[in-house]
Amino acid sequence: MQAKPSIMNIAPYVGGESKASPASGRVIKLSSNEGAFGVPKGVKEAIQRYADTAHRYPDGGCIELRSALGLKYGIDPAHIVCGAGSDEIISFLCQAYVSPRDEVIYSRHGFLMYPISTQVAGGIPVPVPEQELRADLQAMLSAVTDKTKIIFLANPNNPTGSYLNSAELRAFLMSLPKHILLVLDSAYAEFVTAPDYSAGHEFVSDFGNVVVTRTFSKIYGMGGVRLGWGHCPPDIADVLNRVRGPFNVSSLAQVCGIAALGEAQFIADSQAHNTFWRERASEALTQAGLRVYPSQGNFLLVSFGTAEKAESCRLALKDQGIILRQMGAYGLSECLRISIGHPEEMEIAISTLTAYMNNS
Ligand SMILES: Cc1ncc(COP(=O)(O)O)c(C=O)c1O
Repeated sequence: MQAKPSIMNIAPYVGGESKASPASGRVIKLSSNEGAFGVPKGVKEAIQRYADTAHRYPDGGCIELRSALGLKYGIDPAHIVCGAGSDEIISFLCQAYVSPRDEVIYSRHGFLMYPISTQVAGGIPVPVPEQELRADLQAMLSAVTDKTKIIFLANPNNPTGSYLNSAELRAFLMSLPKHILLVLDSAYAEFVTAPDYSAGHEFVSDFGNVVVTRTFSKIYGMGGVRLGWGHCPPDIADVLNRVRGPFNVSSLAQVCGIAALGEAQFIADSQAHNTFWRERASEALTQAGLRVYPSQGNFLLVSFGTAEKAESCRLALKDQGIILRQMGAYGLSECLRISIGHPEEMEIAISTLTAYMNNS
């Protein structure tokens, strides 16, 4: 069977490695930006309670979950569409708004699912060069053509960790033609400490051509459950509700999401932990002679100067059971990305990386 040529041009997404066979037997996985503290207690309890109802189809409209999200974020639940991860919302948007040969703009080192979902829809991904590993909004506006349908911006961005402030985004939106959709991917919003940052929900009603995507995969520690959501203007919510499958979000994901929203202490602890270790790891790795990019996420992008040096270090650490993320697919092969793990993992990762640098 022959698939459409546009599909065969897609390089499949490769997730963070999770396996290593070190002599120590210990594996520290810092390759996928998963929460440092695992699954919140309330979510574990919800999973136990859920077991007896697994034979029932889910509520296709995610009514209870959307109403809990609406309450927490001060959003009309009718403007929320849930997905099996925010990946699914990204994919729905491309399916709904991108026709073959339409263009979709994203920043050069933006999240890989933007070009992939664009190509699945038959569209043309248009990567726009960044300035110092930060999205260049002026260059993105200049890249707009009469074929442009969507602009994707992760804020903060994975894997660079850089962010755009609220005033910059508002100015950008004032200049963006109204028929072009801006998707603000706020997957890492909970980790941001910059005071001039906004996850962007106010832009949805202020401009009408903005969708904000959020996820339960990062700070809520539910990457394996697959739950994300989009905050959309009403007309776009209506479109996405036509695109999505009738039961796209499992009932397990729905009960976990509702439980997770009640985990205020877990979230506060995770935020404090992330801020502390992001700073501490950044200082220690800089002292070890590495270039560490400023990050507002739960990860650090670290440059080794050359692809060879980055890969040698990755393999050496993997031998010792520490898994870091390769960055070649993002056009940053001289870098590795290190997710913030729990304290013991961070101590070991920092000391092992420092020792490696001292001996190389
Ligand atoms: C910027 C960004 N957006 C979206 C996602 C996808 O998250 P989800 O697990 O909700 O599909 C990720 C996951 O790594 C991400 O880094």
